[in-house]
Amino acid sequence: MGIAKKISYLKSLGVNVLWICPFYQSPMKDNGYDVSDYYAIDPQYGTMEDMDYLIQRAKAENIKVILDLVLNHTSDQHLWFKQACADKNSKYRDYYIFKDSIDNAADLRNVFGGSTWTQIADGSWYFHTFAEEQPDLNWDNPELRQEIYKMINWWIDKGISGFRMDAITYIKKNFDTIESQSDGRIDVSKCCLNQPGIDELLQELKEQTYGRDEFFIVAEAPGVSEGDLERYIGENGHFSAIFDFSYTDIDIFPGGAWSDQRNWSIEEFKQKLFKNQYAVQKIGWAANYLENHDQPRSINKYFSKDQLLSYHEKMAKALGTLFFFLKGTPFIYQGEELGIGNTIFRDISEVDDVNSVGQYARCISEGCSHEAAMEAINRRSRDHARLPMQWNNEQYYGFSKEKPWIACNQVYTDISVEQETKQADSVLNYYKRMIHLRQRSEYSDILIYGDIAEVDTSNENVICYRRFTGNKEIYVAVNMGEQSCSLNLEANEILLGNYEMGNRKMIQNIRAYEAIVWI
Ligand code: GLC
Repeated sequence: MGIAKKISYLKSLGVNVLWICPFYQSPMKDNGYDVSDYYAIDPQYGTMEDMDYLIQRAKAENIKVILDLVLNHTSDQHLWFKQACADKNSKYRDYYIFKDSIDNAADLRNVFGGSTWTQIADGSWYFHTFAEEQPDLNWDNPELRQEIYKMINWWIDKGISGFRMDAITYIKKNFDTIESQSDGRIDVSKCCLNQPGIDELLQELKEQTYGRDEFFIVAEAPGVSEGDLERYIGENGHFSAIFDFSYTDIDIFPGGAWSDQRNWSIEEFKQKLFKNQYAVQKIGWAANYLENHDQPRSINKYFSKDQLLSYHEKMAKALGTLFFFLKGTPFIYQGEELGIGNTIFRDISEVDDVNSVGQYARCISEGCSHEAAMEAINRRSRDHARLPMQWNNEQYYGFSKEKPWIACNQVYTDISVEQETKQADSVLNYYKRMIHLRQRSEYSDILIYGDIAEVDTSNENVICYRRFTGNKEIYVAVNMGEQSCSLNLEANEILLGNYEMGNRKMIQNIRAYEAIVWI
């Protein structure tokens, strides 16, 4: 399938903004989040002409393109870093963070599990928040910042409409703030996440680049608390919206090993969801998502394993309904609209994700057996979502004629765009209906701009909310459990649901994994 056909697919789905994960030249140690040249397209994806064509085709279909900007670090194969390592006196040395020696007592754990410090041939050490192949840039260096702004403006001039800012709250470091500890590694967030001084950097970044016009800037900004929201997404905030991690990371401990499974309840999920919605709606705009390239598939995370095979379509539609009508921009991650679930990895050698590999090593070093470590990887690996897109039932699901870099999904083998397009009640066609309802129906106004409030149904497993403007309102209810629950809510009209509805005026019960939208 060529670019034009894929853009047509997005158009038929109703997508109006396309966020593309990094496609820049990269050794692909971290799925392209290790950029070795911001001005070049990695040959495995195509050429700059392809990129220009993509932007142009998307524009013709009224689809805005936003790019992923990885500004906290580069690849260790970036020319700047190579020169920094080759010559201590090169100006590029200060583009990164080097130390002659490191204090063991303040050894930090990087996000993927190992140390944040790696030694090079001349005996000095460089800092990396993520993998060792991803040295952090030194944002305190003004010349480096100018290089970054130049690059962003170059992309803006190509006609893109915004950016997704990768790991942006890590750019400011305050190493002095780390207290020495001798009991092992310290979470990197203690010194490097949302630190004092970051606002000045983000303000300058905005002024020198996307602040000059209307761009949509969505940031991956961990560490931003409710009290910080005004600075980040308020009227003169740094960004248009930020992603919320509170409920997508509900099953893990921040900075913890994946083998350390966190128990959570629907009640907690509900609380986190509405807490974020209320906080954001007071101040700005939300970026809602269940899945992205860093998450396993959502049906596996939020529902019981035992029910998955019999209910997976219902579950995918239920989750879709739940997040799609929240206040804010809903982000759909490739394949989520098909209801695809996780694959199975039998050995760590089958996994490409650098985080999974680091986590596997960490689990083993913390005493897990191979089986237990693989169990954690199967629960959490980022590769579940990164597998080739399932377009049709040809070899490699029509994704490629060549063998892809990773095995295709081994579990959800009969799912594809082609097959779901034909099936009237497929997850794909359900997503189309949701998008239509939100984007182009007589209810769009309420669903886009209306406020949100939780509706208490006194059922632990039911998440229910209403969206409203003036005297118009729309209700959404989703049963996250397998037991049918009583609701007894009146409906004038059912707008959408994942079960046969009939013409009910009274919604007495909500069935297993049922989702209903009504007025
Ligand atoms: C962000 C990306 C993730 C990547 C990391 C390092 O969290 O979403 O995929 O591994 O940054 O760039």
